[in-house]
This record gives sequence, structure tokens and C-alpha cells, in this order.
Amino acid sequence: MKTRLTERFGIEKPILCGGLMWLATAEYVAAVVNAGAMGYITPRSYPDEAAFVDALRRCRAMTGGRPFGVNLYISARPEENARMRRWIEILAGEDVRHVETAGYSPVAFLPALKAVGCQVVHKATSVRHAASAAKAGVDAVVLIGAECGGHPGQGDIPAMVLAARALEQIDVPVLVGGGIGSGRQLAAALALGADGVLIGSRMLVADEIWAHDAYKTHLLSLDETGSTTVLHALKNTYRCLANDTAAAVAALEAEGVRDYETLGPLIGGMMQRQAYETGDWSQGVLSLGPAAAWCDRLEPAGAILDRLTAEAETALRSARDRIAPALAPA
Ligand SMILES: Cc1cc2nc3c(=O)[nH]c(=O)nc-3n(C[C@H](O)[C@H](O)[C@H](O)COP(=O)(O)O)c2cc1C
Repeated sequence: MKTRLTERFGIEKPILCGGLMWLATAEYVAAVVNAGAMGYITPRSYPDEAAFVDALRRCRAMTGGRPFGVNLYISARPEENARMRRWIEILAGEDVRHVETAGYSPVAFLPALKAVGCQVVHKATSVRHAASAAKAGVDAVVLIGAECGGHPGQGDIPAMVLAARALEQIDVPVLVGGGIGSGRQLAAALALGADGVLIGSRMLVADEIWAHDAYKTHLLSLDETGSTTVLHALKNTYRCLANDTAAAVAALEAEGVRDYETLGPLIGGMMQRQAYETGDWSQGVLSLGPAAAWCDRLEPAGAILDRLTAEAETALRSARDRIAPALAPA
């Protein structure tokens, strides 16, 4: 499965495993990387700089020299990006050469990231933002659709639509992100002309995800209706597990509540961490998308990724046998 992405990144599988707040630890990212994909550690999951640096070193030891990445979530509010410069210094010092940016535009940070030799993948929720990131010099773009776990943006457009539109306009490698949980979808993305996929929700049942087994076991029971969205009214749409907290947030929004003083305690990260620690999945706004429907067993990350690529190969062979013979020569 060679694509511009696998060639450029020197990886075997055209799959990126996106940053997962609290959960994309050194152990998880190392497992993804050792399986031939690319993964991104989330620095904000660690309590302080020393713990983050320690995670980078452990990941390096576990991956035996294979490159791995870090997720940098960029805020629209400059004061919240204060730590970004320091993180880039740390990446340079620890020889980390892959970065996934998300949230706001990466343009302000690209010169610094490029100066230290980073390959930058930007997750964009609109074609326009992906095109401007590509123009500014990112190495690849991921078009994140409305189906994604976490923040899909406000456009409400499915990933396949965004990616197909982007492929018509953007020269750097283009990936599909959001709702991808099966090999058939990876095959469809490759047939579309995309260079790969980026996934999150599907990986949450990996053995290397430290969340409590009660949470992971609950994910096994979900179908494609297991997620919902909240915070539309605040123009900060969030796709998450359909649970008691999501219902409470939706009810407050319906009542007209718009202030973060009331909503903040329900949507805050500490509630997420507690849910992952205790396994009480009824509490917290827990990032999740419909791709969790394909979470069918607890197994190592590498086994999930191997199954995805094997299924994609089967789907592509089937398409070749069913459709290609009937095609008139170009
Ligand atoms: C539990 C969870 C936590 C996430 N945390 C982050 C994060 O901290 N930073 C980020 O850029 N994306 C985050 N995401 C989004 C993923 O990196 C990825 O873009 C998304 O999961 C893709 O959609 P999918 O879940 O449908 O596969 C998170 C997603 C999940 C499911």
C-alpha cells in the first residue's frame, strides 16, 4: 500500500493514529509506530514538562529508532498557545520529527517546526483551511469530517465530501479523517485518490490504551449510533459518547445556557480523565465518533491496524475483480 504519505514518512501502512487527549501515551504511540503506522503523543496528557520529556524518551526506546510524532493542538486564543514554543524546543532537543497540528491555523508555528526538520500534518475541518495550510507549507493535510470523534468544526460536512473536494485542489498528500473504522473505508479512501486515513475512535479498544476495561468493554457494545454532538450552540461542536453528561449538556443548551461557567464543569478534561480511570462511562464529555461501531474486541493496537490493512486489501482485490474487468481502456 504505497502512497505519497507512506513514501514521505517512511511508514508501511497509510494510516495515521491521531492524538487522543489523556490516552495517546508513549506506550500507545509506540505500539502504533511498531505496527507500521504513525502515531502522535498528546503533550497535554502529561502533568508537566518533565513527564512529557520522559514519555518522549520512553517512546524512543520502545520504537527502536523508528520515527514517531507529537500532537500540537493550536488554540484560536494566542494566550493558550504560550506553551507551544517550548514544546517545539523540546521536540527539537528530543529529535522528534513528526507533528500533527489541529484546531487553529498552524501557519504561525510552521517556520519553527520546519526549522527543526518536522514533517507536519495538519488536520483541517474545511477545504479552505486545508488549502491554506498546504499553501503555507505543511507536508500533508487531513480533511476531518463531521463524523469525527472530538472537534469536527462547524461545517457539518462528511469526510468523504471534504477529501474529494480537497483532492481536486490541493497538491500535498491528502488524507481522510473521521468515521473510519474498517478496512473497506480505507480501501474507499485509497480508491478516492487519498494518500491514507487518520483514525481515532477505532483505536480506543487497543490494549495499549490505558483507559479502564469497563470503558473499553462498553465501547464494544456500541453500534454507529453510539455517539452524539453537543455545543453546537456555542459554535464549538463536540462529537462524543452518548451518555448522561452529553444529555445534560444538550438539555442545558436547549434551555438557552451558553456560558462556560455553567457548562465548563461538565465538559472539562478532568471529568474525562476520571471516566477513563474509573470506567464510569456515564460521566464526562468523552470524545468518540461512529467509527467505534467497529470496535469488536480488546486486542493490541498492532492487531487492529493489521486487520484494517488486510480488510482493505481484500476490498481492493474484490473491486478489481468485480469492476476493473468491465472498464473500457482509458
Ligand atoms: C478520545 C479522543 C481524544 C482526542 N483528543 C484529541 C486531541 O487531544 N488533539 C487532537 O488534535 N485530536 C484529538 N482527537 C481527534 C483524533 O485525533 C482524530 O482526529 C479523530 O478521532 C478522527 O475521527 P474518528 O474518531 O472518527 O476516527 C481525539 C479523539 C478521540 C476519540
